[in-house]
Amino acid sequence: MASTKTRTVGEGEQEWKQSLKVPEKDLRFQTEDVTATKGNEFEDYYLKRELLMGIFEAGFEKPSPIQEESIPIALTGRDILARAKNGTGKTAAFIIPMLERINTANTHVQSLILVPTRELALQTSQVCKTLGKHMQINVMVTTGGTTLKDDIMRLSETVHVLVGTPGRVLDLADKGVVNLKTAEMFIMDEADKLLSQEFTPVIEKLLAHFQAKRQILLYSATFPLMVKEFKDKFMVKPYEINLMDELTLKGITQYYAFVEEKQKVHCLNTLFSKLHINQSIIFCNSTNRVELLARKITELGYSCFYSHAKMLQQHRNRVFHDFRNGACRNLVCSDLLTRGIDIQAVNVVINFDFPKNAETYLHRIGRSGRFGHLGLAINLVTYEDRFNLYRIEQELGTEILPIPAVIDKRLYVAPSDSQDAPQKPLKNPQSNPPVQYQPRRHNPHQSNPRYTNGPPGMRDGNSYRPAHPSQNPENAPPGYHSTSSYSQPHRNRYYRSNKKPTP
Ligand SMILES: Nc1ncnc2c1ncn2[C@@H]1O[C@H](COP(=O)(O)OP(=O)(O)OP(=O)(O)O)[C@@H](O)[C@H]1O
Ligand SMILES: [Mg+2]
Repeated sequence: MASTKTRTVGEGEQEWKQSLKVPEKDLRFQTEDVTATKGNEFEDYYLKRELLMGIFEAGFEKPSPIQEESIPIALTGRDILARAKNGTGKTAAFIIPMLERINTANTHVQSLILVPTRELALQTSQVCKTLGKHMQINVMVTTGGTTLKDDIMRLSETVHVLVGTPGRVLDLADKGVVNLKTAEMFIMDEADKLLSQEFTPVIEKLLAHFQAKRQILLYSATFPLMVKEFKDKFMVKPYEINLMDELTLKGITQYYAFVEEKQKVHCLNTLFSKLHINQSIIFCNSTNRVELLARKITELGYSCFYSHAKMLQQHRNRVFHDFRNGACRNLVCSDLLTRGIDIQAVNVVINFDFPKNAETYLHRIGRSGRFGHLGLAINLVTYEDRFNLYRIEQELGTEILPIPAVIDKRLYVAPSDSQDAPQKPLKNPQSNPPVQYQPRRHNPHQSNPRYTNGPPGMRDGNSYRPAHPSQNPENAPPGYHSTSSYSQPHRNRYYRSNKKPTP
């Protein structure tokens, strides 16, 4: 009898699993950053069947190391302070236990997930929706840059999980629109950023809205000392996870090219013509430089999108959505998109401007090589950057190598990747269409119907390519034209002048 019953359950399980719509298996090589697990299975955590269905349908087969450490402890209700490398699955490490602990029969807000940027809030809420797809869970995103009135209306309906940025959430709590006393979980992703001077006063005020007995979960790849102060003041015997005995990802190869400021655009042009870019993110240190560079790239005949904090939120959203869907090969941005952004097709990150601190460097390069895959980080380094280069290498315990004449594509291109050739500039940059290709695998963050219809007049990815200045020279930012420091190419100098600058 007993054996028959077991078999019946087994068959039932098989049926249940077989009816799932599981995405195509990702066969790309993965590093130990995600494969060095204890061998747990998601089923080991006794999660609700509906949640397991969401997890498997997202294409997750086994928990990653941070998920193995975090899920069982978070399920007990204990506070957690967790540190794990970029792209190793921290989001699901807090969302899975959060979803398990939510009672959808209750109509009140049960969990708050706080993140530092609006784009990350959208992405994170999408992960909640994807993993909780079979759970009848109501997730709401609330960030600045949107109408408060809409949020108030939405909160009159059932919301189980609130995902937002600090200012807007505090506003809603202060106005009494959302009652956080009922929320048992307070999760901070990119916690060190949220606990930086910029945000701490807001966070402390927000905490005052919670009941004394709440679970606090903090996650990041970087935890500077100031987090300790918060931990000692607000957390109860937090369980500390640190999976970062080394800091940089094993799958990312880092190079620098020693250049003069005026050589940078030419250098980038050479990189575009030689690298096998599936998708790239190119970082600049100011919003002005983002726009200047985006124009310059378009002028060179390559397509690119750009995004920075001074743009309208609806434009930022559209760029983010379209780039994620592969409508364009290159994205130029500021540090707005440095943290948490997960686009699996990005295999190259270029620091057009070298960052000033190690945390920013680590998060930026971590936009490629997601979930243990391969990636390339190229840093354009000027004489002025030499101290920062040296310091960041020391602080991260890593070596950034001089860029070789030829970069072996096996270091950053998976054999199955769709873009197996360097991108080519179009003869007439004005008619350069966005590159159309399918991202290589299903990404659970990708299908948010809210963005499929962009704002009027913005339905074409081309709208985001900056206009060529000749179309409207008045619109060109100051310093853009031929007097601009970007404008004089130096033929292939970066391959020759590549001796590491001594600090
Ligand atoms: N168990 C899993 N199996 C397969 N893929 C997974 C698993 N967990 C997460 N992923 C995928 O790995 C990618 C990176 O995950 P995530 O964005 O959570 O990383 P992260 O650790 O938060 O990185 P960052 O520090 O950059 O924010 C996502 O595309 C996610 O869907
Ligand atoms: Mg993250």
